[in-house]
Amino acid sequence: MNVPFYGHIRQYQNVKSEIDTNIQEVLGSGQYVMGPMLKRFENEFAAYHGMQYAVGVGNGTDALWLAFQALGIGSGDECITTTNTFFATAEAIWIAGAKAVFVDSDPKTNCIDTSKIEAAITPTTKALVPVHLYGQCADMKAIRSIADRHGLLIVEDNAQGIGARGDGFRIGELSDAVCTSFIIQKNLGCFGDGGAVVTNHEKVDRAIRKLRNHGSDKRSCHSMGYNSRLDDIHAGVLSVKLKRIDEWNDLRRKWAARYSSCLQDTRSFTLPYEMPGSYHVYHLYVIETKKPEHRDPLLNYLNENGIDAKCHYPIAIHQQEGYPWGKQARIAGAIPNSERNAACCISLPMFPELTEQEVDYVIDRVLEWDRKADVA
Ligand SMILES: Cc1ncc(COP(=O)(O)O)c(C=O)c1O
Repeated sequence: MNVPFYGHIRQYQNVKSEIDTNIQEVLGSGQYVMGPMLKRFENEFAAYHGMQYAVGVGNGTDALWLAFQALGIGSGDECITTTNTFFATAEAIWIAGAKAVFVDSDPKTNCIDTSKIEAAITPTTKALVPVHLYGQCADMKAIRSIADRHGLLIVEDNAQGIGARGDGFRIGELSDAVCTSFIIQKNLGCFGDGGAVVTNHEKVDRAIRKLRNHGSDKRSCHSMGYNSRLDDIHAGVLSVKLKRIDEWNDLRRKWAARYSSCLQDTRSFTLPYEMPGSYHVYHLYVIETKKPEHRDPLLNYLNENGIDAKCHYPIAIHQQEGYPWGKQARIAGAIPNSERNAACCISLPMFPELTEQEVDYVIDRVLEWDRKADVA
């Protein structure tokens, strides 16, 4: 049996007629950039978050650095984040002209370790940039109270956690801006690149609307800006998918629960940890081998058996060749957990349209490998 890693083709087939209808509507309207479909989706997306504003931009990376710029984060400022995230989190900090400061991640959740943040704060620290890694909310209550104590901004990198909730808080409720990616494979994905910033700050919304459109909010009048807009065709696709995101996240949780209950007695892996009271949306279901030397053999075993398992992220940002490419960066304290996460992670296939047979096939192959593994 072959088990793919991504399910977006199956997903398209399931909602094809509605998606095709919206695409046809955009094509027929003749308004493909900053048209009515984008406006409609932005309103729907803000409402989904229970927030006031959503601005569609070109991709999740742009969402981050446009949010930084709109909040006045740039040269001379430090932003605190983690190294065991997708590269774009730090890349966006550098694009904005700021300094990336990396602290360790939490050994259980792999999100930022909030107990390490305060020691990394300096007089030039301007923002905290937590990542809701793999679809689980970082500890936003602790992050909010640190930000309040030190007068810092918070920008949430929520490329992976649309629909997730923390214990008693929603995404966006405790921060200045939430940045999202709609790249194909995300929980809410379009058919190419896309992103959005969600915020309750009118000034941030207005600034990003201008920045994304060549610094213009009035025809022929410009200040410095860029071109980074979410296309109306993609907005039409996302509008259809947004209606189903909670149902799809529930299916991800169902498969995650099946993986976790069947793999709980394995000897050689650590399974994902869901914080009590939180609602993890399993963008990725990531297990870790207890021994780093087991990771590649297990990955190869799964791949050889037709299972498209992957790693997120096997090379942490500070381990990339050439780091930091002349950009400003600082690692605050030791970061053994982020390094362990990079060395030991394996992502099992995870998408709503998986079948029970496929999930059980993956479980059987993982159990088979575990029985043979040398755990002495
Ligand atoms: C954690 C994280 N941040 C940022 C991004 C950047 O998003 P994009 O690829 O849409 O630029 C991604 C996804 O690709 C991501 O996973």
